[in-house]
Amino acid sequence: MSNRKILVTSALPYANGPIHLGHLVEYIQTDIWVRFQKQRGNECYYVCADDTHGTPIMLKADREGITPEELIAQVSKEHTRDFKEFGVAFDNYHSTHSEENKQFSALIYKRLQDAGHISSRTITQAYDPVKQMFLPDRFIKGECPKCGAADQYGDNCEACGATYSPIELKNAVSAISGKKPIEKDSVHYFFNLADFTDMLRGWIHAGHLQNEVRNKMAEWLEGGLQQWDISRDAPYFGFEIPDAPGKYFYVWLDAPIGYMASFKNLCEKQELDFDAFWSKDSETELYHFIGKDIIYFHALFWPAMLNGAGFRTPSAIFAHGFLTVNGEKMSKSRGTFITARTYLEYLNPEYLRYYFAAKLNAGVDDLDLNFDDFSQRVNADLVGKVVNIASRCSGFITKRFANALADRCSEPAMFQDFVNANNRIADYYETREFGKAMREIMALADKANQYIDDKKPWLIAKESDKEQELHEVCSMGINLFRLLVAYLKPVIPVLAGNTEDFLNVSTLAWPEAARPLLNHAVHEFKPLMTRVEADKIEAIVAASKENLEKTADKPKAKQFEPIADTVEFEDFAKLDLRIAKIIKAEHVAGADKLLQLTVDIGDETRNIYAGIKSAYAPEELEGQLTLVIANLAPRKMRFGISEGMVLAAGPGGKDIWVLKPDQGAVAGMRVK
Ligand code: 2FM
Ligand code: ZN
Repeated sequence: MSNRKILVTSALPYANGPIHLGHLVEYIQTDIWVRFQKQRGNECYYVCADDTHGTPIMLKADREGITPEELIAQVSKEHTRDFKEFGVAFDNYHSTHSEENKQFSALIYKRLQDAGHISSRTITQAYDPVKQMFLPDRFIKGECPKCGAADQYGDNCEACGATYSPIELKNAVSAISGKKPIEKDSVHYFFNLADFTDMLRGWIHAGHLQNEVRNKMAEWLEGGLQQWDISRDAPYFGFEIPDAPGKYFYVWLDAPIGYMASFKNLCEKQELDFDAFWSKDSETELYHFIGKDIIYFHALFWPAMLNGAGFRTPSAIFAHGFLTVNGEKMSKSRGTFITARTYLEYLNPEYLRYYFAAKLNAGVDDLDLNFDDFSQRVNADLVGKVVNIASRCSGFITKRFANALADRCSEPAMFQDFVNANNRIADYYETREFGKAMREIMALADKANQYIDDKKPWLIAKESDKEQELHEVCSMGINLFRLLVAYLKPVIPVLAGNTEDFLNVSTLAWPEAARPLLNHAVHEFKPLMTRVEADKIEAIVAASKENLEKTADKPKAKQFEPIADTVEFEDFAKLDLRIAKIIKAEHVAGADKLLQLTVDIGDETRNIYAGIKSAYAPEELEGQLTLVIANLAPRKMRFGISEGMVLAAGPGGKDIWVLKPDQGAVAGMRVK
């Protein structure tokens, strides 16, 4: 056995939303690779963290009326739980909002600065005069300066493909306040990436990147490297830049440093040697698994930062493609934007781990989750081929041989063929050709089933003089099953653990020197995996659509919804505005934002769901008068039917005011 020392990371997920199946392609891919390395006896550590800084997280916390620290603590719990249930076994899961990360960010910045790689200059940017903050491009909307398309984001037009600066947008508005941004100057700090042109030219051609990624990088390099703006102005949730009050490190500066910080945190817990992994002369291996959208940060900025600050650079960057579902981009309205949590409510996570493994390769092509193919593959391969071998043989071992395996192997050559396959399968795992590894393993499973089909233990069992043969055939089947599960262990660790219990072995090691289990007592077999049920998939899609309904009311990143300039009087006159008395206000089980109100509108009472929970406790509302639209068409919501709308004003979070009329009003009065 080799004994490599390997540090592995997956990209740090943003702490402003749930883990979804798109994320899981990467975490499952990395986890399989790490488990494989460990099973092979290598010293391998897998670290990750929540990526906690930046404007979107700051604004989300603001909207929810909590601090960013509270938001990231809550999200960290959710992420950790989802990963655990999917079997993604980090050695450490940390946060970029940590002391270690602050120290390393300051250290790397200082070293880059001392070596002359940081410069500063004043730049002009869009500024929200109401919210009093500079606006990132995605928080500015307006009309495309080239084609005039409305509702385009700050830096490019989805209609004509033009790219521009947000200052060029026509009739631009802040997506946060809806107000017109002004231009404002401020000093920014830049990392002089061009200083590393030669270093990067060498690095990208030195075998650290996949071919297609290397070619892309070479194009970027030839186009010339620009300075990278690494600072942001307050208010910003992040680390303040040393000696630059009111200036913060841009989230992408401290995010990859979060890899080091998480590992440092692990070193402290386990007394590992940090420098052995990160010093310039390190002989250990360092791999970053990432999505293809963030290659630029990992293959240019990150090696340059590390090199400039005197640390080692990555051994390789492993980029993968995106997930599509049923051939299309994941879509909330189609119910294919599936969160880890929703999936876990209905299906066994190991189905998905196997399915992704069966479809993954070492390239950057997108991977499609096709629901029919998913069910068919899991049912045919895991249940129909692998687990079936044990089901076919274990009954006889229990009933006829008191759970003991035979004392000789009837087909040593076949057993050895299965063992010999280990090199090929290991090469496929090592090179991230998981699909090929799965095909190789399933071809062996076919052979094992063929063996049982040929021997027909169910017929031998009927002949009283063939006890020994029956024993040997079934024991052979169980021994082949054991090798198959050992090969699949990185992919389906729970099934492998249950198999270890069944086989009464401490661990299924990588079978490079495996011998058959002979004269060995196993435990009674319990079903290891059931078939995927089609109605569970339908339920996931339905629940994902419901999640959408549940969130449809809340403004997305408080994005500004364009409002019609004027409303005709006839349209306005259609509204039946009434004074209503809130008779009852209650929490709605499972709803984050809604309160259920029973209101008296004079001639009847109505049930109304209002998204005002962040601002009001039910008891504050009961007995109050408010304004409602009484003739809004009833709306079916996830929790019931809403028969009207309460009028409220404000930007959201704690700042929502239900409009309360003067106490002279009485319920039922029409508002003229
Ligand atoms: O793209 C993203 O989701 C980022 N949060 C990934 C960061 S990876 C690393 F650099 F921290
Ligand atoms: Zn355009």
